[in-house]
Amino acid sequence: MTTLLLNIQELLQVRETSIAKVSGAEMAILPTLKNAYLVLENDIISDFGLMENLPKINADLTIDATGKIVLPTWCDSHTHIVYAGNREGEFVDRINGLSYEEIANRGGGILNSAQKLNETLEEEIYEQSKVRLEEVMHLGTGAVEIKSGYGLTVEGELKMLRVIKKLAQNYPITIKSTFLGAHAYPTLFKDNKRGYIDCMINEMLPQIAKEKLAHYVDVFCETGYFTVAETEEIMVAGIQHGLEPKIHVNQFNSIGGIQAGIKHKALSVDHLEVMTDDDIEALKNSHTMPVALPSCSYFLSIPYTPARKMIAAGLPLALATDFNPGSTPSGNMNFVVATACIKMKMTPQEAINAATINGAYAMGVSETHGSITKGKKANLILTKAITSYYQLPYAFGSNLIEAVFLDGKII
Ligand code: NIG
Ligand code: FE
Repeated sequence: MTTLLLNIQELLQVRETSIAKVSGAEMAILPTLKNAYLVLENDIISDFGLMENLPKINADLTIDATGKIVLPTWCDSHTHIVYAGNREGEFVDRINGLSYEEIANRGGGILNSAQKLNETLEEEIYEQSKVRLEEVMHLGTGAVEIKSGYGLTVEGELKMLRVIKKLAQNYPITIKSTFLGAHAYPTLFKDNKRGYIDCMINEMLPQIAKEKLAHYVDVFCETGYFTVAETEEIMVAGIQHGLEPKIHVNQFNSIGGIQAGIKHKALSVDHLEVMTDDDIEALKNSHTMPVALPSCSYFLSIPYTPARKMIAAGLPLALATDFNPGSTPSGNMNFVVATACIKMKMTPQEAINAATINGAYAMGVSETHGSITKGKKANLILTKAITSYYQLPYAFGSNLIEAVFLDGKII
């Protein structure tokens, strides 16, 4: 099937040849075509150009995009979309003065979600999670990474990863799966941390590898959660089972997680609310993508990742949602892009690069996603008629999306 989009006011993120990521000053450049056409052949982008050069095309479907913007769908490289129930009670506790840390210390937080998850049947978790997945697809996300980490038992972790696999089989959105058994120490092992690490390494990882349930291994490297040495041990075990590391670091404290991630060739290091000069220095010329999660900063009222400082140092930066029940109950990448502009002082060009091509890199899909390039997946956002793409972050509370194409089809 051939689909033709005509008279596109502006086609964003046009890359003639595929690039892996953009870094530093390159992030300010968002290549676009004004008054453009775009051709989709089934699920692939097959051609694009200026309207004045439009060749004769026999399209099965023609869409007039006068006044509208077209861009690649968002690549959300960090989420915890699969969970059971919610934590709205803790949200009100925080309004009433408790901190995220205090709630976690009294058995709430991740352990609260773990209890709910272990009490819920796999089918029910799937039903709850698919609602969130469908929501983010309609908000323009075309590729999403989803983590386990609310099981914290062999059965619970496998259950989560099987739900992720089933979502990937049943939906047109591209899904990458991450094993995050090292999200917190479960209550059962609170006085036997060695025992839980052994359980992850000797029981969970071999089964996950056998069933091919995950692409990546993640660890919450943070004071009170997993130390740098534990993070390294779990990353190494994951690598031995074919999983590339992608880790949670520097959310509340800078304890050396970034350096450990780089040492083990982590694909990304995520959160980065607290960054030292040494952390920035370590990331220079590495293969590791730094990922900021501004809606987490917003929801928890914690610092934002120092994007300006990092980009000035020549680093790349990706943006993701962190969609989860505790620190970020939102999977809206449009809000992430707007918040990056409003609170982190990223320009719209930088934020869109960070949420498309760099997001694709941070989840290992930049060869197929994240830009308008011939041969890439026909995953697109078609906006409503708007004055310019600056509206996307500017009108931060409005839904400006008219249609989302995944695999070349309007969802
Ligand atoms: O990325 N920081 C660690 N994990 C999640 C939140 C987990 C939770 O509170 O449920 C995050 O913010
Ligand atoms: Fe997270």
